[in-house]
Amino acid sequence: MSQSKESISNPYETLLLERRGRVALITINRPEKRNALNIQTREEGARMLEELGNDDSVGVVVITGAGDKAFIAGADIAEFAGRTSLTQRAVMLGRSLFTAMDSFPKPIIAMVNGFCLGGGCELALACDLRIASDRASFGQPEINLGIIPGGGGTQRLTRLVGEGKSMELILTGDIIDAATAFNIGLVNMVVPASDLEAKTMEIATRIAEKSPIALRMAKEAVKLASRSNLDEGLRREVDLFALCFSSEDKDEGVSAFLEKRKPQFKGK
Ligand code: COA
Repeated sequence: MSQSKESISNPYETLLLERRGRVALITINRPEKRNALNIQTREEGARMLEELGNDDSVGVVVITGAGDKAFIAGADIAEFAGRTSLTQRAVMLGRSLFTAMDSFPKPIIAMVNGFCLGGGCELALACDLRIASDRASFGQPEINLGIIPGGGGTQRLTRLVGEGKSMELILTGDIIDAATAFNIGLVNMVVPASDLEAKTMEIATRIAEKSPIALRMAKEAVKLASRSNLDEGLRREVDLFALCFSSEDKDEGVSAFLEKRKPQFKGK
């Protein structure tokens, strides 16, 4: 069956995509539902990431939520009503946004502009950096619904902030402010709400100027730290380090340093 012209020109109904140089800004666009993640948003997000992952003109992806209230207020709770465990399992094992983010080869930055709860917090946890507005708040309130985090929260939050703080957040369902999130290591930095976009774009643009190959190797190597033992991680790091030596970007980076100029990386 052929798609309508409209659906081809605008294949994403719940997401906005803006390109600023080598930075792609994805906005989850359901502000009236505090950008809650429904099945459609997850599916579109995974699809959009696949597109951006294959696009050499994109170096870094930034994800945020529409409006000034929420980053993402969690999974769409309305979709939970009446759902059986088998249906829920099928939904979660289907095309997963969290898995797409986790395996995304380029840096992803969460620009957290408000409520960052449940699946929203898990989505931020699946990003590489989290930059928060001073008005943002964080939490895993699933326990209040009689469920637990299911988008990687029990694992990624624990690896990021340690078992004690992770257990506290997941068992109490308490919401913490941005300063507390920073203090426990959940976010990389907190900036005034009015500076959030400028600061995030400045960092994203700076990262996007680096060698895409080196960024990819660096991401893979750092992610190994929580997925392998130390000996295996150190061994793989050597392989990934050595692999950078097969790139033109490595020659350019070293030459530029020796010639006292700024490198021009090409991703080759
Ligand atoms: N899923 C579905 N709908 C949601 C939602 C979610 N996670 N979070 C908010 N919404 C909807 C509300 O139902 C409401 O819809 P309505 O206007 O049709 O009634 C709308 O978004 C606005 O929410 P509201 O609660 O009025 O906004 P608020 O600014 O006063 O409060 C929150 C915002 C985020 C504190 C509150 O909405 C909330 O607690 N949401 C649920 C958070 C949660 O438990 N997440 C984990 C899910 S597993």
